[in-house]
Amino acid sequence: MTSRPGTLAIRARLLSFDADPAVDGEAAAIRYVEDGILVIRDGIITEIGEGPSLARRLEPGVPLIDHRPHLVMPGFIDPHLHLPQTQVIASYGAELMEWLAKYTFPEELRYGDSGVAGEASRFLLDTLAANGTTTAAVYCTTHQVSAEAFFHEAGRRNLRMIAGKVMMDRNAPPGLLDTPQSGYDETKELISAWHGHGRLEVAITPRFAPTSTEAQLEAAGALASEFPDLPIQTHLSENHAEIAYVAEAFPWSKDYTDVYERYGLVRPRALYGHCVHLSGREREALAEQGASAIFCPTSNLFLGSGLYDLAASRALGLKTGIATDIGGGTSYSMLTTAAEGYKVLALKGQKLPAFEAFHMLTAGNAAAMGIETRVGRLAPGLEADVVVLDSHATAPLRRRMERVETLAEELFALMVLGDERATVATYAMGRKIHDRYHAGQRGLAPKLDQPAMPRQPQGGESAQ
Ligand code: GUN
Ligand code: ZN
Repeated sequence: MTSRPGTLAIRARLLSFDADPAVDGEAAAIRYVEDGILVIRDGIITEIGEGPSLARRLEPGVPLIDHRPHLVMPGFIDPHLHLPQTQVIASYGAELMEWLAKYTFPEELRYGDSGVAGEASRFLLDTLAANGTTTAAVYCTTHQVSAEAFFHEAGRRNLRMIAGKVMMDRNAPPGLLDTPQSGYDETKELISAWHGHGRLEVAITPRFAPTSTEAQLEAAGALASEFPDLPIQTHLSENHAEIAYVAEAFPWSKDYTDVYERYGLVRPRALYGHCVHLSGREREALAEQGASAIFCPTSNLFLGSGLYDLAASRALGLKTGIATDIGGGTSYSMLTTAAEGYKVLALKGQKLPAFEAFHMLTAGNAAAMGIETRVGRLAPGLEADVVVLDSHATAPLRRRMERVETLAEELFALMVLGDERATVATYAMGRKIHDRYHAGQRGLAPKLDQPAMPRQPQGGESAQ
């Protein structure tokens, strides 16, 4: 008997998290198989188990990819980044509000051109794959075509991605502004064209309170109540000048979070980027209403925004995800992001053990985004998005590993010293989308993957 087409098996050291080690303890949370096999059928994980016994039971003809001695983990999940900021990253010398005006908004103006947005989407998705990131929550620009272009590229690769057209109707250049009505209408059009196509989801994306009028926040709230299951993404309490502006612009508000609460934007699957300077009341409100805080350490350091307080969030039951925030953030690597998170927390007198960090990058971020039943763990029924990591990828790693005795030590060194070079391969739905040995051949994924998904024509656009 030969195997079904679409079945494959991966043999490696398997690591996944069934629970949060910070909450449930390491013994209950960590699933580690020193010599394991992951069986994938039609893009879905069907079995995970011990290598020697599973190898004997595999159907004849099933391709067995041997990644030993590397680590296989669920693909990394990046819950906050900006598509139009791949050429803003590493811009010198400004805090948030000046950085937006000086670097970010001028660049975002270019994304009204679908060619620009398409090229950036291909670069971004290739770079995420090279870093082992298989899912992200992505801000496009105010231009509907920027989101169209991103969904088109992500759909071709059959990725699980969340993205939204930014809603922004004040405090930015005229070419970047929409209106409450157009922001509402275009988001709705995107929802009907793309939400639920393949593994794509549309997020309601008011950029942040300073760039939306009350009328626009009301429109975002109307979308939120019409689509109660949709993700929402925005920014909250990143920088002191931003917070002061919000207090002035919304004089009736108790605090910054209250502005979003007023418009029904605080709920499960609402992703609040940064949350650096929250009060206890705000943390409590976010936690009670099931929203998530997204910690963006490289961005918070780079823009001098401040230090996230993980212990305070945990104490009040506020879910925390961790993200790159490209391009306020300075690295596409989730390993580097975790390492910088460790350093931010060290400055707060807090700790981020490696198991907790890798949980955050996978199952934790999936839970923060409300996609934990789909991705984030190596378990039967979940989508087979995985990263293969080489903890000996570079000379400094190899040298450090000579003194490493435990898995926790290995993972910690990998997170602190590792980066894109540690990615041996990345798979989405069981299909290889990045291979270290073909890293020069960017764009591997679209060639391998299916043709573009059918999509509905938008206003003024002919069907493709
Ligand atoms: N707040 C509003 N927009 C942005 C952005 O693009 N980057 C960051 N870091 N903060 C924001
Ligand atoms: Zn951001």
